[in-house]
Amino acid sequence: MTAAIMKLTNICKSFGPIDVLNDISLEIRAGEVLCLLGDNGAGKSTLIKTLSGVYTPNSGTMEMDGVPVAFRNPREASERGIATVHQFGGTFPLMSIGRSFFVGVEPTKGWGPFKIFDRKKANEIAVKAVRDFGITRIDDGDRLVGGLSGGERQSLAIARAVHFGARVLILDEPTAALGVKQATHVLRIVNEAKRRGLAVVFITHQVTHAMAVGDHFAVLIRGAIAADFKRGEKTREEITDLMAGGETMADLEAAIDGSRNEAESATPQAAA
Ligand SMILES: Nc1ncnc2c1ncn2[C@@H]1O[C@H](COP(=O)(O)OP(=O)(O)O)[C@@H](O)[C@H]1O
Ligand SMILES: [Mg+2]
Repeated sequence: MTAAIMKLTNICKSFGPIDVLNDISLEIRAGEVLCLLGDNGAGKSTLIKTLSGVYTPNSGTMEMDGVPVAFRNPREASERGIATVHQFGGTFPLMSIGRSFFVGVEPTKGWGPFKIFDRKKANEIAVKAVRDFGITRIDDGDRLVGGLSGGERQSLAIARAVHFGARVLILDEPTAALGVKQATHVLRIVNEAKRRGLAVVFITHQVTHAMAVGDHFAVLIRGAIAADFKRGEKTREEITDLMAGGETMADLEAAIDGSRNEAESATPQAAA
């Protein structure tokens, strides 16, 4: 197994009196997709915001390439190659593809030779980067980002992060708002990023999407890691049950039946 790019040990994060992350230990490896699963409110976004310098943990350690790191802000994390792509791609609808590709890029990171924005060059680089990622439908850098589909926007954002040297790619629910075809598109890009040796942290609560690309899975329940396993070690049913907080499908059915009985017996009383 390759050495971890990032290693979290006993990370805790609270907001005032509320403990949101409890003793999280995880390893993130190059060429691997780590799926972070969990119900709404489990702490997934808080965990990746801690990884990417948005939040500082209250305790615990983070290492990168075996060396302790403490990011004071997202910029420091980004300079170390940690890139986050949010649900809607985080791009600018009214900007051209070429221009949006270079927004916020430091001159020292490859944009140096161009003193003024070179539209043609920017378009060429952006279109080539996305095409190299297998997105052949984006062929004109002058097109507005707002005209792209949700999946294409996600793909553009991922291609951009990879182009500018991301080593750890964090995707927070990239497929949540997408239809089946668009989601498949994004999953293909995730696989391509992994093939190129990136470490991908893929957050989702869709088990099908996780199982399609995941090498390694961590299930968060109320801010703690309830399970940590590798591809093939658990069935879809087991993963689904884990995500439901340990409740099995049978428990759920019993609970639904129970409330139906209550409703039935409650009705005559209510009428009386
Ligand atoms: N900035 C914050 N201040 C206080 N509580 C927060 C903050 N961010 C998240 N929380 C709480 O932490 C819990 C986990 O949230 P979050 O990480 O967004 O979960 P997830 O992404 O898994 O849905 C929730 O109960 C949420 O209300
Ligand atoms: Mg979230």
